[in-house]
Amino acid sequence: MHDEAWDRTPIEPQSVDAPLSTAAVFLVVTIADGDDAVATVRDVISDIGGLVRAVGFRDLNAHLSCNVGIGSDAWDRLGQTSRPAQLRSFFEVKGPVHTAVSTPGDLLFHIRAERADFVFELERLILTTLGDAVTVADEVNGFRYFDSRDLLGFVDGTENPTGASMARASLIGEEDPEFRGGSYVVVQKYLHDLTAWTSLPVELQEKIIGRTKLDNVELDDAVEGQKAHKTLATIVDANGVEHDILRDNMPFGRPGQDEFGTYFIGYARDLWVIEEMLRNMFVGNPVGSYDQILDFSTAVTGTTFFVPSNDVLESLGG
Ligand code: HEM
Repeated sequence: MHDEAWDRTPIEPQSVDAPLSTAAVFLVVTIADGDDAVATVRDVISDIGGLVRAVGFRDLNAHLSCNVGIGSDAWDRLGQTSRPAQLRSFFEVKGPVHTAVSTPGDLLFHIRAERADFVFELERLILTTLGDAVTVADEVNGFRYFDSRDLLGFVDGTENPTGASMARASLIGEEDPEFRGGSYVVVQKYLHDLTAWTSLPVELQEKIIGRTKLDNVELDDAVEGQKAHKTLATIVDANGVEHDILRDNMPFGRPGQDEFGTYFIGYARDLWVIEEMLRNMFVGNPVGSYDQILDFSTAVTGTTFFVPSNDVLESLGG
């Protein structure tokens, strides 16, 4: 169990605590070879606040925000001598049937706003400024779907921690003082087989998720046999302490291309908590009893980043 000291002296995290928005872009890029590319990246990400203000000030009610995440290899390339204690690359989790793949990515830009044009404009400026210092590995446009439902039709995000618990779950504290106010973030792009999913009776869908569909009420944990998604994703340590993460999943899709997905994004104070959730989901708990959501949802990306505090991010400019 962590102490609660992370907020004893002022430190400014990035906008990890920004609420679920109407629109979001998840942009993952790789950094080109060479010192020039690294220098450009350092300039742009250390001054990301300037770009956010340039767009965001034009309508403060749009609540534009952008979190910059840095991958494990990129962290070293940016010339950092010390490393966040748990920063490591996403490792593939191979279950009996499904695999959480690991895919490339040096930088993540998690852009959120109440206006899709603001999200678009900030992404455009970021990519223009970075120029050929980066190559886009993945770009996903997320949108709010009714009352924050995923495309499987369930309300997604209900059990997220709020207030002080949100900071405790998502922000590094005194356990790693140099990186206090930072956060580990894991992203995975899931594609759904909606034809197969919608052919299941709603009662079975509810059992798989662990909540009722229409009114979003939590179901009891299964006493024996197959566990629901919400149960497999609940991590309790040997001392009986539950470890939460902060999720900002968004639906995305192109019906004309038969593309329907959920972009999973989880922020955590302890990276191992998300890794443990993934093991439970893909390998199963007990082993073999994997998350049935995966029979209808395929993870096509998987990447881990570190989201430093604003202070550390700004210092990367040198
Ligand atoms: C196809 C991808 C996914 C979908 C559609 C999905 C959907 C959902 C839904 C509908 C809930 C119940 C409501 C809520 O509390 O938010 C939920 C809960 C949860 N999910 Fe997922 N999820 C996905 C992937 C993941 C992954 C990859 C993780 C972690 C690595 C995860 C972690 C959690 C956690 C921690 C909860 C809350 C459990 C609780 O305390 O009740 N989910 N998810």
